[in-house]
Amino acid sequence: MRPREIRHGIYWVGAVDWDRRLFDSLIPLPDGTSYNSYLVQGSQKTALIDGVDPTKERLLLENLDALGVKKLDYLIANHAEQDHAGAIPTVLARYPDAKVVCTPRCKGMLVDLLMVAEDRFITVEDKETVSLGDRTLEFIHAPWVHWPETMLTYLREEKILFPCDFFGSHLATSDLFVTDEGQVYEAAKRYYAEIMMPFRTTIQKNLEKVREYQIDLIAPSHGPIYNKPEFILSAYHSWAFDEPKNIVVLPYVSMHDSTRRLVAHFVGALVERGITVKQFDLPVTDIGKLAMALVDAATVVIGTPTVLGGAHPAAAYAAFLANALRPNLKFASIIGSYGWGGKVVEQLSGMLTNLKVELLPPVLAKGYPREADLKALDSLAEMVRQKHRESGVM
Ligand code: FEO
Repeated sequence: MRPREIRHGIYWVGAVDWDRRLFDSLIPLPDGTSYNSYLVQGSQKTALIDGVDPTKERLLLENLDALGVKKLDYLIANHAEQDHAGAIPTVLARYPDAKVVCTPRCKGMLVDLLMVAEDRFITVEDKETVSLGDRTLEFIHAPWVHWPETMLTYLREEKILFPCDFFGSHLATSDLFVTDEGQVYEAAKRYYAEIMMPFRTTIQKNLEKVREYQIDLIAPSHGPIYNKPEFILSAYHSWAFDEPKNIVVLPYVSMHDSTRRLVAHFVGALVERGITVKQFDLPVTDIGKLAMALVDAATVVIGTPTVLGGAHPAAAYAAFLANALRPNLKFASIIGSYGWGGKVVEQLSGMLTNLKVELLPPVLAKGYPREADLKALDSLAEMVRQKHRESGVM
């Protein structure tokens, strides 16, 4: 896509990656993504804010050529991750006078990760500014969004926030600005769940920091630009601050139908008790959907058969993922089946140590569930209801 003007002298010059389907060899990208790079021209200096993934750096250079950019003074690196910073060596080679502007920690990371020469940097402290002449860039340190070196850039005169990953969405679209709020809400929530949720407490602090600024536009480095900033600010506020809801997330896997029968009965017992259930058949689940469900849930119950004495690897993966994403869960349990024995409960509960959850009694059936197993599931559903009531989520 060619450069697109946002305001006079301010352009989107990034790349839309319509075809990418996996990020970090882990995160599904059902709607592709974009790497947004922004050119800001002042009366005296020109700055490029964030780069693109190295696979798309040719498009970035073509966009700069299309605008006739002969000299670049500053390359603002809000974040050292390669999907934005990976093009820095190429941009620096094209523009020999350009300096990379970043936090001191980001400088170290760009030297380590991308072998950028030490003399190409200007490091900035929190709230420090750089003048472009008639325009001023202010740098807001915001560590752990989602790496330790991250910062945001605020263009004072136009009140535009360039927050890089913060508020971003993996969404390939021809829309420069948000038009379909429903689509962007889901993509941004997916992004929050997968990338930002593990750092929820620092996200809370950085949200409060952002609230100190008057903002007309939020221009993230993934997904469309927010011309109604309150839309994404209030969504983030709710994801990061709200108490969990009356929801049980139930990721499960079944091999010979025993665990599936347990899950079906348990889901019915929860629904009868007024509890919302989100059920995920792990071998065919988009893990981004599972991550999104964990943003709001009060309880997770993992369903698994016993394989070689332990949990099915798909269930272990779900436990590992939930533990890594650190959602604001309050309760957890395990249901499942076995043929002759095993250590499913010890194994899975031992994988949830990051979560501040109360473990509720597990239910394991030998083979197909009998009447006693179904009654145990009813009791577990009743306990979930009581716990949700006592903790104020229903
Ligand atoms: Fe979009 Fe953390 O990189």
